[in-house]
Amino acid sequence: MKLGCCYYPEHWPESVWAEDAARMAAMGLSLVRIGEFAWSRIEPEPGRYDWAWLDRAIDTLHDAGLQIILGTPTATPPKWLVDQMPDMVAIDDRGRPRGFGSRRHYCFSHEGYQAECRRIVTALAERYGAHPAIVMWQTDNEYGCHDTVLSFSEAAAASFRGWLAARYGTPEALNAAWGNVFWSMEYRSFAEVDPPHLTVTEANPAHWLDYRRFASDQVASFNAAQVEILRAHAPGRDITHNFMGFFTEFDHHAVGREIDVATWDSYPLGFLEQFWFSREEKQAYFRQGHPDIAAFHHDLYRGCSQGRWGVMEQQPGPVNWARFNPAPLPGMVALWTLEACAHGAEFTSYFRWRQAPFAQEQMHAGLLRPDSTEAEAADEVRAAAEVLAAIGPQNCAKAPAALVFSYEAAWVLGIQPQGASFRYLELVFECYSALRTQGLDVDIVAPEADLTGYAMVVVPSLPIVPPGFAEKLSALTCPVLLGPRSGSKSESFCIPEGLAPGDLREVTGVTVTRVESLRDGVTEAADGFAITRWREDVMSGSAPEIADAAGRGVVSYKAGVRYCSIWPDRALLRLLVERMADEAGLALQGLPEGIRVRRSEAHIFTFNYAASPVFVPHLGITLGPAGWNIAPL
Ligand code: GAL
Repeated sequence: MKLGCCYYPEHWPESVWAEDAARMAAMGLSLVRIGEFAWSRIEPEPGRYDWAWLDRAIDTLHDAGLQIILGTPTATPPKWLVDQMPDMVAIDDRGRPRGFGSRRHYCFSHEGYQAECRRIVTALAERYGAHPAIVMWQTDNEYGCHDTVLSFSEAAAASFRGWLAARYGTPEALNAAWGNVFWSMEYRSFAEVDPPHLTVTEANPAHWLDYRRFASDQVASFNAAQVEILRAHAPGRDITHNFMGFFTEFDHHAVGREIDVATWDSYPLGFLEQFWFSREEKQAYFRQGHPDIAAFHHDLYRGCSQGRWGVMEQQPGPVNWARFNPAPLPGMVALWTLEACAHGAEFTSYFRWRQAPFAQEQMHAGLLRPDSTEAEAADEVRAAAEVLAAIGPQNCAKAPAALVFSYEAAWVLGIQPQGASFRYLELVFECYSALRTQGLDVDIVAPEADLTGYAMVVVPSLPIVPPGFAEKLSALTCPVLLGPRSGSKSESFCIPEGLAPGDLREVTGVTVTRVESLRDGVTEAADGFAITRWREDVMSGSAPEIADAAGRGVVSYKAGVRYCSIWPDRALLRLLVERMADEAGLALQGLPEGIRVRRSEAHIFTFNYAASPVFVPHLGITLGPAGWNIAPL
């Protein structure tokens, strides 16, 4: 696995570029990403390009032997461009324009902005497409960051109407699909349909779901336009986009199919702080991140782009954007780096080379401090580089367990949670953790993926069952687990004919007759586990495999397929993983708290995420805090 960093030559005097490049190479870095926010320097005035500085920056990095990832600058349209077409900015869900003065202030649907993007990307690609130092192109930067997938602009409304017309053909078909007779919401033409924001009470969930699908398609086609230009002018170069953590606002599988390498931006400490983790977990893993956060995204993004993936931005120290921003435990930066390698990353690139003394991210650490002295992570990067050189490239074989992940499921359950604590991402993450704490490697795959050859398949929840999915499950010979609310909606967000789980009724043998959500703190006891958040009444021809203390069904079983009709807690998930592993003949390895393992084709990697030393039975040794071990398989 290669190492790299994110570098902003435009932030520093030209006199330090050569020294920076030499220091990068000496630290063990071979890749450098540049350019993704540099529009105002590349084109300081409309139509006047200034390539000279970028030519020299690229050549300077190249001369030091570094390979370059060049970003297209479309996440940061300059002020003159916004002034030229003020309606290019996104409009938020309260109808307010998003202002200039940070970044991502554009609407994906604005045709004028789309044309400007094609122009700047073409200019960049014509100039640098054949440059020998540029091995990869990054489109834009973090689509959707700062809540920018959805826009409610005029441009978006107009595109949405066209999208609906293409999907439904006639307004009557749309009215029927959405159930618009309810509350007299029927339309006589597509021109009458608006985006679903600013309604008095909730808009029709079918309206919202189509708006989300539309917005996701807009991101994909915005990306595809850049990809097409880059393919034409930069032949043979890889194309990537840097995705985010715990982010589901657009279909990453769709964007992933168009690019060569899915990359993501890994900030384990910021993510622990910002997401749903319990107070205890936030305390215990304050300086390490939850042991499954990085791994979860590694496995998710490996499944997004035909197996090729990397880390574009790795946290090297405290970040600036979470509620609290601790320093990583000594050793964590090396651990995160080696863990990416264990999961098959092609590279890890640190964000950023040098901490900026100015502007929004001045409190964000880099590998160097603002005065160019080395920050704490530098030694860890050198150490990781040595280990990586010693072990050589690591390939990942197919994992024993498949976890099915659906962006559409996240939208459906977000639009209609029905219980405030029903969170799709959290449910998926808990399933992932249940597999990983038993020492299993996991592939996180799209619902469309080929599921044959896995020893077990876990579908945490899949409200809308894609065509052919039920048949695909029936054909599997391995144990399958389906979580609550699977099959609970039709394609157009209605209760399916014959009730939930719709197309999955045959394969599961159950019909869901009622659902209820439980308020936080309400717990119903069962044998060894507890029922919280969500439960369903299920009708079935056979007795439940697992029931609660009162005999009410919790898990049903039919020919290798289990349907879990509650929000499963950790104890129940553990029991289910044990049963499925037993049936699949898979040996489990109950790992001590904080320990995780990952196998490449040649090695088993062991990581200690605990803040204290932990004895690791399979190694027969104790790993210190942030300790790791790599052993041949
Ligand atoms: C990422 C972004 C970077 C930088 C970084 C700070 O989300 O891509 O440009 O802002 O966060 O952690």
